[in-house]
Amino acid sequence: MSIAATTMTRAPAVRHFLDLTDFTGAELRDLIERAKTMKNARAGAPRGTPDRATPLKGRIVALIFEKQSTRTRLSFDVGIRQLGGETIVLNGYDLQLGRGETIADTARVLSRYVDAIVIRTAKHETLLELALNATVPVINGLTNLSHPCQVMADVMTFEEARGPIAGKNVAWIGSGTNVASSFIHAAARFGFNLRIACAAGEGPRPELIEWARANGAKVTLGENSEKIVAGAACVVTDTWVSVTEEGQIAADVVSSRHTKLAPYCVTPALMAKAAPNAVFLHCLPAHRGEEVAAEVIDGPQSLVWEEAENRLHVQKAILLNCLEG
Ligand code: CP
Ligand code: NVA
Repeated sequence: MSIAATTMTRAPAVRHFLDLTDFTGAELRDLIERAKTMKNARAGAPRGTPDRATPLKGRIVALIFEKQSTRTRLSFDVGIRQLGGETIVLNGYDLQLGRGETIADTARVLSRYVDAIVIRTAKHETLLELALNATVPVINGLTNLSHPCQVMADVMTFEEARGPIAGKNVAWIGSGTNVASSFIHAAARFGFNLRIACAAGEGPRPELIEWARANGAKVTLGENSEKIVAGAACVVTDTWVSVTEEGQIAADVVSSRHTKLAPYCVTPALMAKAAPNAVFLHCLPAHRGEEVAAEVIDGPQSLVWEEAENRLHVQKAILLNCLEG
């Protein structure tokens, strides 16, 4: 496995959605345009109303969650129903996986029952192993290394509010999380300038930056958040402790991370250094007073609720693309 472009080592026989690195910018652009079309087509419809076209009628998608989720779980489940499909939501520990059945065998078995698999797992290797052994599409619903569905929704949300993201300055503040990794991938694929301010030792892996630059992305790294955010059209941050780390890291590690990251809270003063019409994004769940001040996330520049909604629309496009592949 390449650690930078977190892709599979051999071509899949089916079209998975594992990382943005697996797609061209044009392919990802098509997914966003499709998501916007589907969103507009059902504007104002009650949530439970199926879309006019229900291409997933007769299809079943398994949603496996080894870690907690609100948005990913709900948005996939609702989106699949709107497309006419059915879902089976599974807690990883309820499966025989929880007592040692291999992910490869699980992939082979699930491929005989369902039409696609969405998985949230703490180890990216688990996602790749599932995809290598599944004969149905596998979609990354977050791993320790990346969260591509999230960043597709983020790009869509920015563009709905401010137009094309290509050439714009996007400031990532705080910690080099899984979402940050997918933003780095997205900078290369969508052509925006990514400016990253992280606390010392909390930044993205250097291989990611090398990959992005080798793929034409303009990425700037620094530790001074005020300099990084200057003039940015979009300011993004993320939680300091990942759901994939829950129960896995010691309290003193969390405490020292909080101390290092405290100066990276996105405050109204920091937002004031960005462009006057800058937007604020956060994948959620948020921790007010830690990575972001309440005045920012609950303020007029925040698009976090649109961002959460757009998970629904963009994932419908992703899923259809996988199943048509
Ligand atoms: N943003 C996001 O993926 O949220 P959940 O962890 O609630 O799915
Ligand atoms: N970086 C966060 C994203 C949550 C959607 C986490 O891994 O928990």
